[in-house]
Amino acid sequence: MSGQDICEQLEISRTAVWKYINRLKEEGYEIESVTRKGYRLLQSPDFITEEELRQYLPEGTLFGTISYYDSIDSTNEEAKRKAAQGDPDESLYYADNQTAGKGRRGRTWISPKGEDIFFSLLLRPELPVESASMLTLVAALAAAEVSEKYSGEACQIKWPNDIVLHNKKICGILTEMGLEMGEISYIVVGVGFNINRSVFSDEISEMGTSLFKETGRRIPRARFLADFLTAFMKRYRRFLKEQNLASFTEEYESHLVNIGRQVKIIKNGEEMIRTALGINDKGELIVQDDTGVTETIFTGEVSVRGLYGYV
Ligand code: BTN
Repeated sequence: MSGQDICEQLEISRTAVWKYINRLKEEGYEIESVTRKGYRLLQSPDFITEEELRQYLPEGTLFGTISYYDSIDSTNEEAKRKAAQGDPDESLYYADNQTAGKGRRGRTWISPKGEDIFFSLLLRPELPVESASMLTLVAALAAAEVSEKYSGEACQIKWPNDIVLHNKKICGILTEMGLEMGEISYIVVGVGFNINRSVFSDEISEMGTSLFKETGRRIPRARFLADFLTAFMKRYRRFLKEQNLASFTEEYESHLVNIGRQVKIIKNGEEMIRTALGINDKGELIVQDDTGVTETIFTGEVSVRGLYGYV
């Protein structure tokens, strides 16, 4: 595109165009400049610029602020710090790399640079405290939808919120909550997607994988993140109106990898084997023992595994 065309379309001076082009180059865009011809974009950088993310986000998807970090301890921790400083509802914190990424149950979430997606959403919903954990399942539905879109294959949910492709985990969700006088002050929904990573330690590759490893295709991270946010916020707004998961159970169960299977439920170090039947409108797992007695399992208290491995 010629410099003149850019000036006219954006109604800015030639000097401004030159300055912006240089800034884009500094940000990692590869731009060829040819005298009297103009500029040609050869390659976008392999990180998610805020401009690019906004370009793919439909108007009105998020009403809060968007903050990007090259490197941060944990986007969940950052979202909680910012929540305490008064950041608004529907704010997004995302990073190219986390130095202390957190998983559930005190585990570490490995977060290398330039490959995957790590982000946290700060939400300030008017919800009873007991409903906060349901948001994790709402996020899992959005994560499954976008994983299917980019992998072109069916993706499952391992209750409550791991996303599974080819029986291995590609995404994890960690939801944390801040209370004030017994009421929700904020909820942070933190999501880690294994996108373009190709190297996994032996220990992790038994259970975990990435979309790239499974499909052989590199995935544009900005578009993927924007699609997740769009899919999640659509469901989130519906959930806020309904305040339960009744209208989501059918969609959720259609992805639920555990359904009809035996699961090992580990609670306070004790194991029990049950058959998973589905979820109720609170997102609890309905399970049955071999005498036909059913009970529900609440997300906070247990770890669920397949009988012979991860699922
Ligand atoms: C799990 O154990 O499955 C949950 C993993 C959650 C990881 C994400 S990455 C972005 C956000 N920041 C964190 O420190 N953790 C979550």
